Amino acid sequence: EQLYLQGEMSRGVLACVTCHGDGGNSIIPVNPSLAHQPYEYLVKQLHDFRAKDEKSLPSRRGPEGANSLMTAIAAGMTEEDMKNVAFYLSQQPVNWDQAANATKEDTMERGQKIWRGGLPERGVPACAACHSPDGAGMPGQYPRLAGQHPGYIVEQLKLFRSSDRANSAEMHDIADRMSDADIAAVSDFAAGLR
Ligand code: HEM
Ligand code: HEM
Repeated sequence: EQLYLQGEMSRGVLACVTCHGDGGNSIIPVNPSLAHQPYEYLVKQLHDFRAKDEKSLPSRRGPEGANSLMTAIAAGMTEEDMKNVAFYLSQQPVNWDQAANATKEDTMERGQKIWRGGLPERGVPACAACHSPDGAGMPGQYPRLAGQHPGYIVEQLKLFRSSDRANSAEMHDIADRMSDADIAAVSDFAAGLR
């Protein structure tokens, strides 16, 4: 909790709360909400952001292979820091009063179809199978998408598709078979799940 609130300046770790909000409930649309994400998922992401050395690229980057904002922060964290902050966040409740929501009435039906049934003609499985029907995620490495900022979900699907976020082969294959319109529709729908 202390690291979350104050960071660790001597190692270049900025205070998480500035960007990810109270208890991981981010109110800034480009910054993901982290509250109540599965512990293992959070630890894995922090590892995947970290630049190991100049030759081995980190497996989670921003657009066009640029460093993510998180690359330098994760690089300054110790194994203990990652576990502690991930545990703290996994125990925080989602603040549903300020969580993101769906806003696009016209693509709702399409989004729901993809969420529940995937796109069988293109080999896209149902998102609900891994992220759970209510979008809450599953213990282990399956993140919550319910209440997540829709713009962030869109961005991550595009990063999986381009392999700039190269830390999940299954999500790459899924995103690779979706059009921009599919991505926009399912992201908005997922954000609105409760
Ligand atoms: C993403 C943790 C500080 C901005 C993430 C993710 C985690 C995380 C686990 C991945 C979320 C997911 O996959 O759903 C932390 C921790 C911090 C911290 C533990 C403090 C030690 C910050 C700060 C900023 C920031 C200070 C803003 C300057 C972001 C952004 C993303 C992100 C923009 C999305 C990254 C991308 O798409 O490449 N953070 N964060 N974080 N964080 Fe942080
Ligand atoms: C991660 C969306 C289907 C397994 C993610 C993330 C998004 C997403 C946006 C990143 C979340 C974040 O950064 O916080 C979707 C959508 C799906 C879908 C819209 C349906 C079209 C699936 C399926 C599986 C799956 C069917 C299992 C076979 C995973 C896993 C991760 C993940 C394991 C974590 C990857 C990592 O370690 O970085 N998904 N997903 N997803 N998804 Fe999916």
